[in-house]
Amino acid sequence: MADGDRDELAALIRGWTVHFDWARESGATSLRRRGAPSLPPIGQSANASTVSVAAVRDETAPLQRAASPATPPTAPVSAPAPSAPKSVAAQAAPVAATVGAPEVDRVRATPSPPTAAPPSSSDATALFSDPKPIWGPVTTSEERKKSLALIEDEARACRRCRLCDGRTQSVFARGNHDAELFFVGEAPGADEDRIGKPFVGAAGKLLDRILAAMRMTEDDVYIANVAKCRPPNNRPPEPDESMACGPFLERQIELVRPRVIVSWGRTPTSFLLKKSESMSRLRGRWHEYMGVPVLVTWHPAYLLRNPDAKRDTWADMKLVLEKLGRPVPAGRSDG
Ligand code: URA
Ligand code: URA
Repeated sequence: MADGDRDELAALIRGWTVHFDWARESGATSLRRRGAPSLPPIGQSANASTVSVAAVRDETAPLQRAASPATPPTAPVSAPAPSAPKSVAAQAAPVAATVGAPEVDRVRATPSPPTAAPPSSSDATALFSDPKPIWGPVTTSEERKKSLALIEDEARACRRCRLCDGRTQSVFARGNHDAELFFVGEAPGADEDRIGKPFVGAAGKLLDRILAAMRMTEDDVYIANVAKCRPPNNRPPEPDESMACGPFLERQIELVRPRVIVSWGRTPTSFLLKKSESMSRLRGRWHEYMGVPVLVTWHPAYLLRNPDAKRDTWADMKLVLEKLGRPVPAGRSDG
């Protein structure tokens, strides 16, 4: 094996180790197998052919428990799991309480008969060997907002990878947690690190111009990065850094429940899609992350260096508008 391959493999293994340790500390009792059919949450139809974000609860889900009525919201997000972890049924109890809540989330807009509770995971020692998912409660907009604030606090204090050493502050998100559109970038740069919001530097200015050309504002989108802390010299996050930080993004996507995700550039595309094809092959096409359509396009920083590629990205944004059922402006963006 070449040295580079060995280093990459070692970095991947380190990343998984960090992720599994974190998941275990957070009370996870099983691993979800990618592509495996998952059980829908209580109150949702059992016959969905794709596994949607709404139907999948991350087993690292400390937040949903923290934000559920059963646990005070002040509970530390990373608190170690209690020695006798709650059964799935016990965790499912708050779900039932929220089913009749006045807000109907868009992904649950189609009423469906209640389904049986998922099988209970009685063997808490079967860590990571059992693909049965653990469901957290299906939450209202307010609860999802509260959960996002809790993970943001956790990211602020996070020391799961070396990037924490160089940060001024972590950079979590900007935009609207109820947005139908989710933009995923790579990592904060110098401006983002200083200001504490994603995409506020030169690339962010271009992103805002693209949004304006789409006749949208910050209120129509939720914006976050794979890595929450600035990598040194603006390098992309290393694979183990993306692995360590990625669960924050996964939880953000689960809680925002977008209808469409735009993946800006190579880093979020590798993280979300786990595909090794080149950007030029992947961009301009629909992919899927947990049942949510993902459009891959050039990173705004790449567009600043290669203005001719803006034409591609504008074509991509038109696909996004079409998918969202929004008006598609005629002609080219002048951004
Ligand atoms: N580039 C990114 O990918 N994200 C930011 O937040 C800023 C620049
Ligand atoms: N490399 C990236 O990381 N992003 C792009 O958009 C193009 C090349």
